[in-house]
Amino acid sequence: MDRKDFMKQMGIGFGAIMLMNCLQSCSEGEIPDPNPNPGGSTGVDFTLDLNAAANSSLKTQGGFLVVSSRNIIVARTLNDTFIAVSSSCTHQGTTVNYRANTNDFRCPNHGSEFSNTGAVTNGPATSALKKYNTSFDETANTIRIFS
Ligand code: FES
Repeated sequence: MDRKDFMKQMGIGFGAIMLMNCLQSCSEGEIPDPNPNPGGSTGVDFTLDLNAAANSSLKTQGGFLVVSSRNIIVARTLNDTFIAVSSSCTHQGTTVNYRANTNDFRCPNHGSEFSNTGAVTNGPATSALKKYNTSFDETANTIRIFS
């Protein structure tokens, strides 16, 4: 074995040892945060500006918007109120849609339906969508979504 082959084998061996150490420390040494959410807040608190083109669907009664980055669907009801729930169906995670005429949410995948408070009204889903609070500032034309 020449010097180059020796160094190559040593490099592979060293890399394998480092990988084993990393995997071991990641699986054994990591202590989950016992309170990842100190203070009780879920951290959901953001504002949508209805003047922004990206949020224009909420300018119309019956319109809705999925805020993918937050996993939340916000709807403007035909009665001109705002509602917000988690957008992932509790059955298998498909994004739900808002139905203005029935003022509820429906999953297009297997047909689960949820009330405007997120409660299951038709399976196969068995768990409710999480509901969030909304606050509309008519002057600023913004909606705050918070838990
Ligand atoms: S994923 Fe929504 S009903 Fe199955």
